[in-house]
Amino acid sequence: MEYAAGLCLELGFDGVDINMGCPDRSIEKQGCGAAMIKNPAKAKEIIQAAKRGARMGRVDGIPVSVKTRVGYYQNQLEEWLPAILAEAPAAVTIHARTRQELSKVPADWERIRRAVMIRDELSVDTLIIGNGDVLSLADAHHKAKTYGVDGVMVGRALFGNPWFFNPSKSLPVHLTALPTHGVNRDSITAVKEEEVGVEFVSIPERLRVLVERTRLFVELLPFKNFSIMKKHYKAYVNSFAGAADLRIKLMEADSPLEVEQLVEEYLSAVNINGQ
Ligand SMILES: Cc1cc2nc3c(=O)[nH]c(=O)nc-3n(C[C@H](O)[C@H](O)[C@H](O)COP(=O)(O)O)c2cc1C
Repeated sequence: MEYAAGLCLELGFDGVDINMGCPDRSIEKQGCGAAMIKNPAKAKEIIQAAKRGARMGRVDGIPVSVKTRVGYYQNQLEEWLPAILAEAPAAVTIHARTRQELSKVPADWERIRRAVMIRDELSVDTLIIGNGDVLSLADAHHKAKTYGVDGVMVGRALFGNPWFFNPSKSLPVHLTALPTHGVNRDSITAVKEEEVGVEFVSIPERLRVLVERTRLFVELLPFKNFSIMKKHYKAYVNSFAGAADLRIKLMEADSPLEVEQLVEEYLSAVNINGQ
């Protein structure tokens, strides 16, 4: 970690974020990701090593932060968070679920409120960033204010939604990727679309951004397999007439040109061209 953090510094990155929350078995098998929660002593050593490599706290250094969950099988914030905070990372992002919960239950932001209190009780400078079920930019602001966090991290709501950070334009909340398991959306956000007063993205715009993104994928990541891009199509092509058919056709396409042709065919067939 010391060497890797040093490389990040040398290569000009702005910081190093250590992932202590990933539930992927292949990562956990190595003792990494969420498995770190089971081994606070090792986690502390890892943070120390990264801080040395990143020269955190020195004028020529960069910050080291940690991203983690509230616990492994159950909520362990009371022990786990102080252990990390003892190493004074620049920030800790708390995903408000345990490893066992994966993303299958609503994120409990009261746990994040408690994380802020623990940080305050310990009088450390570490920033607390909340994560879990943030649906929109307005929702992010609302949660930041309600729970007193220093920042908010967004995950799945970005799928198929590069408009997320545009305050005046967005996908209707029911089109974003959350939640996955039949949770009532009204119970996880206090901010309703109508209150936000945003302009909703039209279907032609969604589809043309998908084409642009496909083009950029090939241009900027030529070494990646094209099938990786296809995984994202469902996030753009859903909840409108003919979406399922179009998706099936897109899965057969092998180039940005073919994707563009299919999209234009669809738009002229349904006679919506938009801008
Ligand atoms: C497909 C996928 C890949 C992810 N990869 C990472 C990752 O590489 N690093 C990380 O810190 N979190 C990763 N996460 C977790 C998210 O950052 C986030 O903690 C989680 O999705 C909960 O936030 P959400 O409810 O806003 O989606 C990933 C999540 C998903 C669904």
